Amino acid sequence: MKILITGASGGIGRELLQLIACDHPDASITATCYSNLPVPVPSDTVQWVQVNLTEEDQVKALAEQFDHLDWLINCAGMLHTPHQGPEKSISQFDADFFQHNFQVNTMPTLLLAKHFAPVMKTSQQGIFATISARVGSISDNHLGGWYSYRASKAALNMALKTLSIEWERTHKGVCVAALHPGTTDTALSEPFQRNVPVDKLFSPSQTAAYLLAVINQLTARESGHFWAWDGQKIPW
Ligand SMILES: NC(=O)c1ccc[n+]([C@@H]2O[C@H](COP(=O)([O-])OP(=O)(O)OC[C@H]3O[C@@H](n4cnc5c(N)ncnc54)[C@H](OP(=O)(O)O)[C@@H]3O)[C@@H](O)[C@H]2O)c1
Repeated sequence: MKILITGASGGIGRELLQLIACDHPDASITATCYSNLPVPVPSDTVQWVQVNLTEEDQVKALAEQFDHLDWLINCAGMLHTPHQGPEKSISQFDADFFQHNFQVNTMPTLLLAKHFAPVMKTSQQGIFATISARVGSISDNHLGGWYSYRASKAALNMALKTLSIEWERTHKGVCVAALHPGTTDTALSEPFQRNVPVDKLFSPSQTAAYLLAVINQLTARESGHFWAWDGQKIPW
């Protein structure tokens, strides 16, 4: 079994990598980081690669290292930068911040799908999943705000749904999925945790265990859905 975990240097990605490496000791696992260093993993089956997932030539070069892939789990994403956070009001909208959200939250999944399509084609129990966010659900939006992040995750969800329709014909053994991790105590959520009840703020290892339980249940017949950490389907 061959597994690729992108964004594996992040809070959720690193815990998911540790769990998957323990669960699949015989798998060949590739993990990517970007600006942070690789995280030590107690497994010699993990190979680290540094990749900027917003650069198509780097994604292409990564894919060229594979002749086959079963699981691709993309954990990369962003919510804020050192200078800007999600908008509380439309008056705070900024075109550059909006584009940055789309570059990091939406585009990598499309680039990964494009360049890994050939090597996932023969997988019989394949999974192509990206961590999205419940706030990207249009029908679940009751609070407003966070224009750029919400829009980038809604676009990500549309990209995954569209891919699932194409791959139903071409990649019959692969399940395409969007995943919602729940609010998790990482650098990404840290500035926004104040109003989150303690029992609704998961540790990264808790989230990784929940997400892996969902991933383990996925089959190609259930392709094209948006799954929450507890295994419930979220409406698009
Ligand atoms: N934490 C939450 O409460 C929460 C809730 C809902 C959804 N999510 C989603 O879950 C995912 C993971 O979030 P997290 O909390 O684990 O965030 P995090 O700790 O900030 O990790 C973000 C990851 O994205 C990678 N990344 C960022 N820009 C990249 C780029 N250009 N190329 C390649 N990799 C890049 C980072 O790599 P480096 O660190 O190496 O730069 C890091 O591995 C995100 O998509 C986020 O939107 C999180």
